[in-house]
Amino acid sequence: MSDLSNKHIVLGLSGGIACYKAAELCRALVKAGASVQVVMTEAAAQFITPVTLQALSNRAVYVSQWDAREPNNMAHINLSREADAILVAPASADFMAKLLHGRADDLLSLMCLARPIDSVPLILAPAMNREMWLHPATQRNMAQLKADGAHVLDVGQGEQACGETGDGRMLEPEEILQDLVAFFQTKVLAGQHVLVTAGPTYEAMDPVRGITNLSSGKMGFSIARAAREAGAEVTLVAGPVHLPTPRGVQRVDVRSALDMQAAVAAHVDAASVFVATAAVADWRVAEVAGQKIKKEGSGQLPQLSFVENPDILAGVAQSARAKSGALYCVGFAAESHDLLQHATTKRERKGVPLLVGNIGPATFGLDDNALLLVDAQGAKELPHANKLTLARQLVAEIAKRLKVA
Ligand code: C5P
Repeated sequence: MSDLSNKHIVLGLSGGIACYKAAELCRALVKAGASVQVVMTEAAAQFITPVTLQALSNRAVYVSQWDAREPNNMAHINLSREADAILVAPASADFMAKLLHGRADDLLSLMCLARPIDSVPLILAPAMNREMWLHPATQRNMAQLKADGAHVLDVGQGEQACGETGDGRMLEPEEILQDLVAFFQTKVLAGQHVLVTAGPTYEAMDPVRGITNLSSGKMGFSIARAAREAGAEVTLVAGPVHLPTPRGVQRVDVRSALDMQAAVAAHVDAASVFVATAAVADWRVAEVAGQKIKKEGSGQLPQLSFVENPDILAGVAQSARAKSGALYCVGFAAESHDLLQHATTKRERKGVPLLVGNIGPATFGLDDNALLLVDAQGAKELPHANKLTLARQLVAEIAKRLKVA
C-alpha cells in the first residue's frame, strides 16, 4: 500500500511562478499512489502548459468551465464530486482573495465553491512574493479561509523568484506531499505530546575518536513522523544521524548518552507519551582525553576504562508522572534471539507498560522491520513491513492503550 493509494486528488494550479514546482508535485502524488486530476486557471497556463501536466497525471487537464468534453457541461460539479481532496498548489494571493468572496468566474474557483464542503476538503499551498504574503489583506483572507474550513499549508522561507528573500515561497513538492499524507491520517493522538529518542549515541574517547553503534535512527524518526501525522505535538531527541526531520516535528540533536539524558529531562515534563527507540551506548569512556591519543610507534595500547551510562528510559519510567499514568512510557528492545522472552523480561526490568521487541541485526539500517509488542496483557506481533507503516500501527496501538488508561 502506498501512502495515497485509493485517493483521488484534484490538483488545482493558480497563476504564479511556483507552477513549475506543481509538475514535480503532480508526479510525486502519482508516485504515492494517488490518481490526479489537474485543473488550471488561464493564468497558471501562462507559466506551465497543460500538456506537461497531462503527461504527468496521465489525464486530460481542465482549464475552462466551458469545456465541452463533459456530456452535461458541468466540469465543476463532476470533478469535485469524485475528489477525496482538492489541493490548490500554488494558491496565489489573487486566487485566495477570490475564494474568500465565493467568486466563481473560472473553472477552478467555480469548482472550489461547488465542492461538497463536508466531504471534500480544500487544501491550499500559498505561493507569492513576501510583501504580498505579509500584506494585511492576504493575512486577513487566510484567516477567513481557515474559518470557512479550508486547510492552509505553511509557506517556505528563502530566496524568491523576484530576487527578494523572505516568507511566501510555496513549500517544496515533497513537503506538500508529506502534509497531504498526514492530512489523511486519523488524529488518534490529538492533544498528546510525544517525546521520542532515536538513533545511536556517540561516546568520545578523545577529540577525534569515539564509540558508537549501527542504529540508523529510521525507526524512531518514523515514529516521530507517525505521531505527528496522528495529531500529536512531537519532540524528537536524535543522536548523530543524517536523516531529514519529519514535517512539524521539533528536533533536538545530541551526541552522547549524557547529552540525550539532559535533553530528555528538559522536555519530558511537557510530554504525555515517551517512546525510547534510541540505541543508547551502555558504557562511556571514563576519562575523555583532551587531546588525540597518539600511537607514537611505541606498540603500547591505550588503557581505556569505562563507566556505565544512565538508563534514560528506566529513569523516566520511575518518575512520579510515569507512575501516576500522566506519562505513558514505551521502550524498545533490539535482540538477536528469543525475542518474546527478552522483551518480557526487559519490560519488567525497565518498569514500562509497553515494550517493543525487534531483531536488531535484521533491521539496523534497513527500511523494513517487524515488531513484537509486549504489555501486561500479553504479546502482539506487527508483521514485517516498512518502518513508517509499522510506526503508524504502533502509534494506533499506543493510542488504544492511552484510552484505556
Ligand atoms: O537495556 P536495553 O538497552 O536493551 O534497553 C533498550 C531500551 O531502553 C530502549 O528503549 C532504549 O532506548 C532504552 N535505553 C535508555 N537508556 C539506556 C539504555 C537503553 O533509554 N542507557
